[in-house]
Amino acid sequence: MDFYETIRRRRSVRKYSDQSVPEEAITRCLEAARLAPSWRNGQPWRFIVVRDRETIQRLVRANWLGGVVNLWLKDVPVVIVACAEARASGDKGDQLYYLVDVAIALEHVVLAATAEGLGTCWIGGFSEDKVRDVLGIPDHIRVVAMTPLGYPADRKGLYDRLAAVGKRHLRRKSLEEIVRYEKW
Ligand SMILES: Cc1cc2nc3c(=O)[nH]c(=O)nc-3n(C[C@H](O)[C@H](O)[C@H](O)COP(=O)(O)O)c2cc1C
Repeated sequence: MDFYETIRRRRSVRKYSDQSVPEEAITRCLEAARLAPSWRNGQPWRFIVVRDRETIQRLVRANWLGGVVNLWLKDVPVVIVACAEARASGDKGDQLYYLVDVAIALEHVVLAATAEGLGTCWIGGFSEDKVRDVLGIPDHIRVVAMTPLGYPADRKGLYDRLAAVGKRHLRRKSLEEIVRYEKW
């Protein structure tokens, strides 16, 4: 898939089909993350691939309001949890680069998945401590985000339809609003 077509096609998918995701496709997505740039090449990203149904249910309950937020995650075939070995990154005063590094790497996963015909959705609405508890993640590792990985269902689910209310999720600021030339 052409790169710009991949960028245009990516959207948050909250309803997935039952089709299982080939191991090789998951590996290619993770390989895309492995090649991401990072502060001083610290590569602080660590990924956990979760396929076990019971573990996914427990991850759902680790989301805000006991899982009411992001309840749709209960039906996804795979969840990739993006963590950071924060000490392997660095900071510039109050700017912590592990967040930047892991965000870049996870977006590589997201775009690679799109090119594979897979759906994803960035998830930030979880309790870090609860996710740590479910997955046995040590205290010094930060949990930055997670995404489901799977084939989008033919039809949008309730949560996608809710997210589309007012087409908020499709609305983007214009270039004029976000770009300045030569100075602020
Ligand atoms: C850091 C981050 C956290 C997000 N957390 C959630 C989340 O917890 N649940 C959810 O359904 N969507 C979440 N999203 C998805 C956004 O709502 C979505 O990207 C935005 O509305 C734009 O829609 P689009 O991705 O379909 O273009 C998150 C996105 C980002 C970048």
